[in-house]
Amino acid sequence: MHAVTLIKGDGIGPSIMDEAVKVINASGAKIQWEDAYAGLSAFEKFGNPLPDATMESIDKTRVAFKGPLTTVVGTGFRSINVALRQKYELYANVRPATNWEGVKTRYDDVDIVIVRENTEGLYSGLEHYLTSKKDIAESLAVVTRSGSQRVIEYAFKYARDNNRKKVTVCHKANILKYTQGIFLDVARETAARYPDIQFDEKIVDAACMHMVMNPQQFDVVVTTNMFGDILSDLTAGLVGGLGLIPGANIGDDAALFEAVHGSAPDIAGKNLANPAAVIMAGVMMLNHLGEFEAAKRIKLAIEKVVREGKYVTPDLNLQSTCGTKEMGDAIVAAMG
Ligand code: NAI
Ligand code: MG
Repeated sequence: MHAVTLIKGDGIGPSIMDEAVKVINASGAKIQWEDAYAGLSAFEKFGNPLPDATMESIDKTRVAFKGPLTTVVGTGFRSINVALRQKYELYANVRPATNWEGVKTRYDDVDIVIVRENTEGLYSGLEHYLTSKKDIAESLAVVTRSGSQRVIEYAFKYARDNNRKKVTVCHKANILKYTQGIFLDVARETAARYPDIQFDEKIVDAACMHMVMNPQQFDVVVTTNMFGDILSDLTAGLVGGLGLIPGANIGDDAALFEAVHGSAPDIAGKNLANPAAVIMAGVMMLNHLGEFEAAKRIKLAIEKVVREGKYVTPDLNLQSTCGTKEMGDAIVAAMG
């Protein structure tokens, strides 16, 4: 039995997480869910967007499965997601984007894994006004050699362990010579220790153009926090949108699994949200827990449902009248 902290989250969170839990429970994986709260729902319930009980649960389970959070404005917390990633030192945010059979997009051979530095950079949280009139503000990007080392090492090791051929570092060291310079230097040093993995460097703006025009040249991409945030929505767009892309936040002694997308207030409460992204995050979690059989069953089932195209939400098929729940039911049924 694996104890997992379950945070259903805000907006579309509860509806997609209910489907994910249903699918995982039906897969044969042995999970004991511990309900916990964070984000807007926690703020409304307990007056605190990140209650101690939630952290006590993660302290114990070391594995969390999380829906998207709406970050409450004006509570002193800048972002609960950032706070959790920093507290548990979840330094590698792994976001795979692969074409799906049955989802028509511009390309059919995209297979990119973004490994985003997840604890520092421009999202370090060091932001303030410089004047009482609040007309000048600054944000500090903090890049450390050790912080760069652990995520870049993770990316190369991930490439080697997953039979990937190439790691591309995306950076802006031409302008941000010190912060981005450290990251690029560490990438070069690390690449030298992995002679079996091809290494490429791209300046991030040019990388965006290359990714849109010729995504096949990318395999594993390692980059700093904000660039990884942006590039992973770009790669989501290449393969059919945010409804499909999972993410794993990995640290040395804790991990948190979630979709790349947010709480989607524009479609919340309408039974329209695609549960696939968060279910695929569940697949990543099961692999992390060693539940390989269950992970494979779910992956095959969800691929079948998407390929057949009948029980998919409207983001994948505009004609579809299938909702979040019906798609979840179809995935359970496809597991046989
Ligand atoms: P978003 O990712 O929630 O939505 C962007 C667009 O994608 C919307 O049109 C939405 O309808 C669509 N979309 C997202 N997920 C979908 C799904 N599963 N199925 C179908 N369509 C989907 O980004 P947005 O609107 O910028 O942010 C909304 C809130 O979410 C904000 O409060 C933001 O801070 C939060 N957020 C939380 C994240 C997390 O908890 N990890 C990540 C990103 C944003
Ligand atoms: Mg994002």
